[in-house]
Amino acid sequence: MIETGKSWRTDGDDITLVFVAAGRDEIDLAYLGPRLPDGEDLSALVRAGTFGLHENEPDAPRIGGLLPQAHDGYRGRPAYQIRSGKRQVDCGFQLAHIQADGPNMMATWVEKSTGLQVDMSWEIVGPRTVEVTMELMADDEGDILLESASSLSMPLPRHFTHMAAFSGRWAREMQAKTTRIGPQAIEMRSANGKPGFDAGNWLVFHGDDGQNNDADCLGIHTASSGDHLAHVVQDQDGRASLSIEARRQPGGISLNAGDFTDLGQVTLILSDNQDHLTQLFHDHVRTNVLPQRSDWIPRKVHLNSWEALAFDLDEAKLKTLASAAADLGIERFVLDDGWFKGRRGDDAGLGDWQVDEAIFPDGLTPLIDHVRGLDMDFGLWVEPEMISPDSDLYRTHPDWCLHDDRADRPTERNQLVLDLSREDAFAYIYQALVALLDNHDIAYLKWDHNRRLFPDNGLQQFAIQRLLGKLRQQYPAVEIESCSSGGGRVSFSMLQYCHRIWPSDNNDPIERLRIMESWTRFLPLEILGNHVGPSPNPITGRRTDMDFRAKVALFGHMGVETNPAVMSEDERAILRAHIALYKQWRDVLHGGAFRQLRHPESSIYGQMVLSGQRALAVVAQTAFAENFNVAPVRLPGLDPDTLYRVTLPKPWPQKSSAYLADPDAWESGFVLSGRALAERGLALPLTYPETAWLIAIEEQKS
Ligand code: DGJ
Repeated sequence: MIETGKSWRTDGDDITLVFVAAGRDEIDLAYLGPRLPDGEDLSALVRAGTFGLHENEPDAPRIGGLLPQAHDGYRGRPAYQIRSGKRQVDCGFQLAHIQADGPNMMATWVEKSTGLQVDMSWEIVGPRTVEVTMELMADDEGDILLESASSLSMPLPRHFTHMAAFSGRWAREMQAKTTRIGPQAIEMRSANGKPGFDAGNWLVFHGDDGQNNDADCLGIHTASSGDHLAHVVQDQDGRASLSIEARRQPGGISLNAGDFTDLGQVTLILSDNQDHLTQLFHDHVRTNVLPQRSDWIPRKVHLNSWEALAFDLDEAKLKTLASAAADLGIERFVLDDGWFKGRRGDDAGLGDWQVDEAIFPDGLTPLIDHVRGLDMDFGLWVEPEMISPDSDLYRTHPDWCLHDDRADRPTERNQLVLDLSREDAFAYIYQALVALLDNHDIAYLKWDHNRRLFPDNGLQQFAIQRLLGKLRQQYPAVEIESCSSGGGRVSFSMLQYCHRIWPSDNNDPIERLRIMESWTRFLPLEILGNHVGPSPNPITGRRTDMDFRAKVALFGHMGVETNPAVMSEDERAILRAHIALYKQWRDVLHGGAFRQLRHPESSIYGQMVLSGQRALAVVAQTAFAENFNVAPVRLPGLDPDTLYRVTLPKPWPQKSSAYLADPDAWESGFVLSGRALAERGLALPLTYPETAWLIAIEEQKS
């Protein structure tokens, strides 16, 4: 029996967690914040943070803590709902062990009637960064169904009064919405068999409505390539709690005798302002999530065939497209959907990963040779987890899709899901990918996933990770992009195998600016594909000029998804110049510290990346300004006492450049201190919608 009030601390260089035994097998989180002094009296800390009893609560109130149980008046969300055989278990988890050692706290509970063991770990893995994992083991008699199982339960520090979540939809991902935490429970969940567009796998808790950059904040990511759930509620006495299921499976998780399972991973990052939170997320992703990030070659500029040609493919057209791409300075040619057997539209062919002879009579090699001859490398689109009813694979193996024998097989985008938990289907798709990679010079796979999993057997997420893991091991040099109708499956559990995500199918620069603003809160630019699409945009119908599209696409992993043959010579020249600028600045863009630039005019978006003595910023106006002259653009985060040469790299937005006060000086550069840039800023013409400026900032050598 662990004595009530006993406490444990775990420390990183800049963060401390204090855990306290709250009585009756409960462990509470007494402190989560910047590192406390070594001599801090933990008992005093705990007691000074404890409220006395009031008239209307149990005499020994249950606090829930890290493993809430529905006992003795506790009304919050219990961590576990369990069935054993036919019986609903009245959970009684008893704390068996807890220890804190350096950056790690580990605790074990055993459920007294079923013997189910829960091992919880809170580990500080980097600056202000904590990973929470949970492992469960059934005892020798186990016959357990975990109907729900939290990967993280925690009380929310009381100064976090608001929560930002990022739900969205196809082509409009990651719409930030801030909610005040209160007694109405907030529940966000994915029921897609993938994280989806609509759920709560990226959350930021803060102390205000999120408008003030300087408020404390806590970012939380749920790593799951399947479904998840996030639940937040505040009780009558003001105590708010969060619970997250990182591994949510339809029908629950079954454990038989001796079975062991983990419940995925939740990452917590704490900061005292939002810009810093973003930097900590980017650092964590670069250091701990992405595969061998330090060995990466520069992110090549892509030409992707999708919005250029869609399904209208033949070898000659593709070679022409590739030649036009090379002429612009593009470095990788990506053949998107439509290249494989029977695929003339989105209604056939998935599963038949053989090259279509009608399009490529001599296979893919002549096209690849052409691309390689132009000094570009070659990438290929695949959607390995899917099967079209109209495919040879389905005709041969109609039982290889996810299905319920008693029901119809409803499609989405005319397709079904290949059941990769079947060894035969897994082996087939693995061999098909191996054949493609072994027989062709392929540097990159765009790995798509365009259907929700229904019916979902809950196993697909493990199969896909196994498949990606095998391929990464066998082909370490092949880069993989994770796409799911755009950003429908973005998670650390995918990113550990991938080099890029496709943030959205929406390449309209006005939409993209907002979408990128949300993704960049968590993910660095080098993994966020960002393409120059056609005008009018095929999704929104909006027309935008090339200068604006190119400047927006430069802040990301740049690509082009429109056909140079349909551009004017002028447009090609503008695009070529921006591709050259991207190459010139990509080491900064992809290795530096990113920050959003805030402007009083909400229709102006800004981003800046700073690396060593150089920084590049973009500011983009999406509406018609209220005043003709908008407020100067302020550039915080530079060294206040250093002098910088500030230029506006050309090409300039045509119409707006007429309103620059001193064009020659903007070309040769103004020399200004970091303080002047942060405090007063730059008077840039940003009156007209669809105007963007690049700002180059380089330390002035004396
Ligand atoms: C959906 C993707 O998000 C698009 O970029 C494109 O690859 C299509 N699928 C192809 O079918």
